[in-house]
Amino acid sequence: MLALRRARTQVTPAVVPPVWLAGSKTAGATKGGRLADQISIRIDGEYVAASQGQTILEVARASGKYIPTLCWLENITAVGACRLCIVEVSGVARPLPACTTPVQDGMSVVTSSERLAQYRRIAIEFLLAERNHQCAVCVSNNHCELQAMAQRLGVTSVHYAYSWPRLPVDVSHPRYVLDHNRCILCTRCVRVCAELEGARVWDVAGRGVRSMIVCDASRPWGESRSCTNCGKCVQVCPTGAMAEKGFAVEEMVKQDSKVRRLALHHGGRP
Ligand code: FES
Repeated sequence: MLALRRARTQVTPAVVPPVWLAGSKTAGATKGGRLADQISIRIDGEYVAASQGQTILEVARASGKYIPTLCWLENITAVGACRLCIVEVSGVARPLPACTTPVQDGMSVVTSSERLAQYRRIAIEFLLAERNHQCAVCVSNNHCELQAMAQRLGVTSVHYAYSWPRLPVDVSHPRYVLDHNRCILCTRCVRVCAELEGARVWDVAGRGVRSMIVCDASRPWGESRSCTNCGKCVQVCPTGAMAEKGFAVEEMVKQDSKVRRLALHHGGRP
């Protein structure tokens, strides 16, 4: 996993792409006919138009390329927590997270290879081994993004020792429950609460395997002074870590479309 640590590495352009806007008469054009912030990169061998400031993931998605993600949410600040979106970039020895790596002119990106597939499976296996993901007794069973991603990436077994931590379940909130055993520390809840709701209820405390999501710096959720009970954190949680009370196994289906629409409208900035 250490090999997958996040990095914003300076990328050496590997190829000189064709001038994709050559001859453009658009206002603001600079020499060569390109707009000042427009660049061209290659994704899996195809030339794709991009703008300065976009990430590899944004450009790839806009051009119809699939890159797996778990922690990423459109229009919410990307943090590169899950490492599933790693891609190969020419001139860079280690894979880079597509969600936090900005594009550079002439960059050449590979989104799919046996090496990447193996790293992504390892990332999923680490997540499964780190906490107690007992799907058969989870409210999000069959509606879980981690479970779905494991299936999609072909993770059929875990090759690492399970940690089996004894983590608390916070049931103090009248409507919601937080089960740290299911948490993958994607921090979607932290970011959505801060950037969309503006309440900043959640944060991450501790380091390494002791990291935990905390409410109001360390208070039971039900005693929070800043929680507005909006439930956005619950709806964007990719696993059964945050759920509404009253649901049994397999019953909790996240309704995140409203949150995603709000993020689009809001622009995703605090
Ligand atoms: Fe990029 Fe999680 S989606 S690191």
